Amino acid sequence: MHPSKYTDLAFQKCINPNCGAEFDCAQVLFKCPTCGDLLDIWYHWDKIEVPGKLSEFATRWAGRDNPLDLSGVWRFRELLNFCDDKYKVAIGEGQTILQQNDAVAEYVGMQPGRLYLQYEGLNPSGSFKDNGMAAAFSHAMMVGAKSCACASTGNTSASVALYAHSCGLKCTVFIGSGRIAFGKLSQGMDYGAQTVQIRGDFDDCMRQVQAVCTKLGLYLLNSLNPFRLEGQKTIMYRIIESLRWQAPDWIIVPGGNLGNSSAFGKAFYELKELGLIQQIPRMAIINAAGADTLNHLVNSKKLSWNGGQVNQAIIDQYYSELTARNFSPHTCASAIEIARPVNLKKCLHAIDVCTGVVRAVTDEEICDAKAIVGKYGLGCEPASAATIAGLKQLRAEGIVGTNERVACVLTGHPLKDPNVTVDYHKEKRGPFSNPPIEAPNDLDQIMKLIR
Ligand code: F0G
Repeated sequence: MHPSKYTDLAFQKCINPNCGAEFDCAQVLFKCPTCGDLLDIWYHWDKIEVPGKLSEFATRWAGRDNPLDLSGVWRFRELLNFCDDKYKVAIGEGQTILQQNDAVAEYVGMQPGRLYLQYEGLNPSGSFKDNGMAAAFSHAMMVGAKSCACASTGNTSASVALYAHSCGLKCTVFIGSGRIAFGKLSQGMDYGAQTVQIRGDFDDCMRQVQAVCTKLGLYLLNSLNPFRLEGQKTIMYRIIESLRWQAPDWIIVPGGNLGNSSAFGKAFYELKELGLIQQIPRMAIINAAGADTLNHLVNSKKLSWNGGQVNQAIIDQYYSELTARNFSPHTCASAIEIARPVNLKKCLHAIDVCTGVVRAVTDEEICDAKAIVGKYGLGCEPASAATIAGLKQLRAEGIVGTNERVACVLTGHPLKDPNVTVDYHKEKRGPFSNPPIEAPNDLDQIMKLIR
């Protein structure tokens, strides 16, 4: 590996305070080689020229003919400064919008003007994953990776497949057989990835892909890869940017493998440390009821970050209970159908940093909320709508105030999962179903049907 000046600016560090081992950014790791815990990227901020105010990033808009300035990830590059510009990958990610939406605000019980929807489905592969992949593939280029892999509930595989062919890497994606929405499955194949359908769920795929990557030396692109989470921090920067450089009061995010929530907590922690925001927003992480490990561990078992001394026995016991009853998670929000989230500990840290709360919502609540985002907004996939359903619950409990400023992260595009949408409407599954009307091929009869 070519030593780069960038290795002086950033390093990898184990999140376990009892270990704290440090590694060069030029090393390819997805867990701490010393203790097996997760790794984070740390920066020598004193050596990085970070703008004095976040609003200084606005000047980047003038240079939109530079792909790095156009990228919604790399225009904040000083805040994820782990590699040289020549390795940076940008394919148009992060051109997403924050939409104020009063109709959805009314649905959840908030005052007009206070609810914002961050549409990450507008990314090139249709989900927020592209933010992380821009960063992780830049690291892959920096270390000269030739072949990569991921496990996925669908969106990661679509994003990896797209970035892999854009970067000239061979690519294999592991998905649970029958566990992935059709839009996502079609993308992986269309973008040229080798798709391996494992007879198992996401957690099985996650275990297998780690073993395959270790044995065959493939570059792993799941959110265990700490560089990926650096890219996902930028979703928060763009929300702040859209709010004219102010942080909202609340961020609401779906919880699956818990990479996003971890990245958001890190983003806010760093911005506060750097004096770039005054106050860290609160965060709500929303599980699906059929895949609610985080909700269970945090709310029932009182698991917490505890200064990094996470009570591993609670986690181990819960996971062995899941194994004993042969549990496999089930939810219509297949993106977050995960029982053993790999970023659990980082997420506990984020909850600590952001005074976070965790809730679980039913599939019915998810589908109704999704229909509302479709009817009044730009639409989203089921997992994304968990945020709206979760916010409705938090409003009913009085935890989020009617007048607080809230940003919900809508993680994926509505076309990702056409089946859930079609079933909800055609089969009249909920109060907001809007089924098609059968009509004879007759003008008068057709005209009578028009509302
Ligand atoms: N929303 C969507 C649309 C997702 O695809 C995912 C995760 C999440 C939310 C949860 O995010 O894992 O950071 O907590 N999808 C992964 C995948 C697991 O393989 O595509 P998280």
